[in-house]
Amino acid sequence: MSERTLVLIKPDGVKRGLIGDVIARVERKGLKVVAMDLRTLDAETAKAHYAEHAEKPFFGELVEFITSGPLVAMVLEGPRAIESFRALAGATDPVKAAPGTIRGDHALEIGENVVHGSDSPESAAREIKIFFPDRF
Ligand code: CMP
Repeated sequence: MSERTLVLIKPDGVKRGLIGDVIARVERKGLKVVAMDLRTLDAETAKAHYAEHAEKPFFGELVEFITSGPLVAMVLEGPRAIESFRALAGATDPVKAAPGTIRGDHALEIGENVVHGSDSPESAAREIKIFFPDRF
């Protein structure tokens, strides 16, 4: 069954020149990029995207970081796209992410972990609507 997921290449990934690396891994895996945009988020959009973390102690830091520069927002499509991309990304904590994954190969800090991928079909639907309201 084909599904969609929302993926972000976060400002650290864009700054470090990792857009091509991330997209190459996505395409090599067989996931299809069906929407893509480079943009800088305003605080309102960032807070909406990360609403489930609003009560966390790191929320302010998270919003500041995700709005700190341009990011790439993408919608990926494919069989079990949500789980598939999360496997490519590796664990949220890059130190625990397996070598060979995006975070395992490129990151060290939990706050600057290069990519975001939706964690459930409900999150994917909600996040896709925030980033690409008129497309799907
Ligand atoms: P992401 O998949 O974008 O979803 C929520 C983000 O919060 C997560 O990736 C991390 O980058 C970030 N995060 C999680 N835990 C912490 C933490 N303890 N300190 C800072 N950022 C965190």
